[in-house]
Amino acid sequence: MNKLIAGQTPLRVLAVFGTRPEAIKMAPLVKELRRREQISCAVCVTAQHRELLDLVNRHFGLTPDFDLNVMQQSQSLCGIASRIISGLAEVLANYPADLVLVHGDTTTTAAAALTAFYSKKAIGHVEAGLRTYNKASPFPEEGNRLVTGQLASLHFAPTASNAAALAQEHILDNVFVTGNTVIDALAYTVRSDHRFSQSALERILSDYSRTVVVTVHRRENLGQPLQNICAALRDLALAHPDTAFVYPVHPNPAVSEPVHAVLSGLPNFLLLPPLDTADMHNLLARCHFVMTDSGGLQEEAPALGKPVLVLRRETERPEAVRAGTARLCGVEYGEIAAAARELLENEVSYTTMAHAVNPYGDGAACRRIADAIEYVYGLRDAPPAPFGEVSP
Ligand code: UD1
Ligand code: UDP
Repeated sequence: MNKLIAGQTPLRVLAVFGTRPEAIKMAPLVKELRRREQISCAVCVTAQHRELLDLVNRHFGLTPDFDLNVMQQSQSLCGIASRIISGLAEVLANYPADLVLVHGDTTTTAAAALTAFYSKKAIGHVEAGLRTYNKASPFPEEGNRLVTGQLASLHFAPTASNAAALAQEHILDNVFVTGNTVIDALAYTVRSDHRFSQSALERILSDYSRTVVVTVHRRENLGQPLQNICAALRDLALAHPDTAFVYPVHPNPAVSEPVHAVLSGLPNFLLLPPLDTADMHNLLARCHFVMTDSGGLQEEAPALGKPVLVLRRETERPEAVRAGTARLCGVEYGEIAAAARELLENEVSYTTMAHAVNPYGDGAACRRIADAIEYVYGLRDAPPAPFGEVSP
């Protein structure tokens, strides 16, 4: 263990995030840190996402202290990174942070980590240690998390496997197995009496006995893979008129244009704008199963007892595949259609996959991360017991 020294009391933490999934996973952590007497936590959003980010912050009642407002339509990776580096450097020149917290694997994550490093600030990496060992997929996320892992001084690994991946890279100091904060977020959103703000969802859920939730947005799926996915979804919807398909479409024009071109106009296929966090989590809680290339959905669906068909060739989240609730389907028409048909038509296959497991967390990740920060800075005597192990 490598103890760090706070420059002041309370310890000043700056949480930096910019996209929808980072916000959903950091919001409960910010709330937990703000409950700690010895910590002061400010928020800097890069706004790599604008509308998607604002939807989440509104839900959690978070008002950013700093907003870099970097999003542009059809933005390039270098453009996002350079705007973040110059904007965050200015924030860090004026805000005396002891620790900069970043999350996951986006360009916000890597650019913020690099800026913090150049500004001589300690970095804490939330959701550390996920790997596919393929820098081309997911691109650029695998590279982003490798860079961030090298620069960070504190590593919050969701699972023991993630910590083992860090150990293989000789990252051994200040690694804490905490669970994923996304499971904590579900406690803020999922309610048995939730009323959907999108009225179309109330109607679909009452008109159809089964609803399949779909999302696709990954850069490596743009182009032909997305065309294959849409063709399979269209044929599935036509072959199963008793089943509703709900797809909140990512605003990236490279996603929304081809998706609307192939999938609009089917009576049982609902294309929606992005859902707010509460609607999305409650839709997941009530759906039949999920088809997605999203990282967050791969973690949320198992916790809610919903099978997930992963529309990718590989995953950095193999725990749910091992637990039997997620299946890696690839991005070819035939594989996707066959896997979905099996869940729609074979009750035994469905029931085998539809059990709730929580390989990614137990709802106490934020408490463990806050405890770990206090411990590393000498504000608490003992580290938190790792997720997955029973406390003595
Ligand atoms: C980003 C992350 C990805 C993460 C995903 C979550 C990178 C390189 N990618 O991908 O890891 O899985 O977020 O959703 O960090 N747009 C809007 N409004 C918004 C958000 C996006 O209009 O609120 C449009 C813009 O045209 C923008 C485009 O979507 O240029 C792409 O956004 P970007 O953040 O670059 O990539 P994502 O695919 O969202
Ligand atoms: N999500 C949401 N509204 C939507 C689609 C997704 O709130 O319309 C949530 C979802 O429940 C999960 C997160 O967004 O918590 C995942 O974000 P995304 O799929 O964009 O990114 P990834 O997790 O793949 O990085």
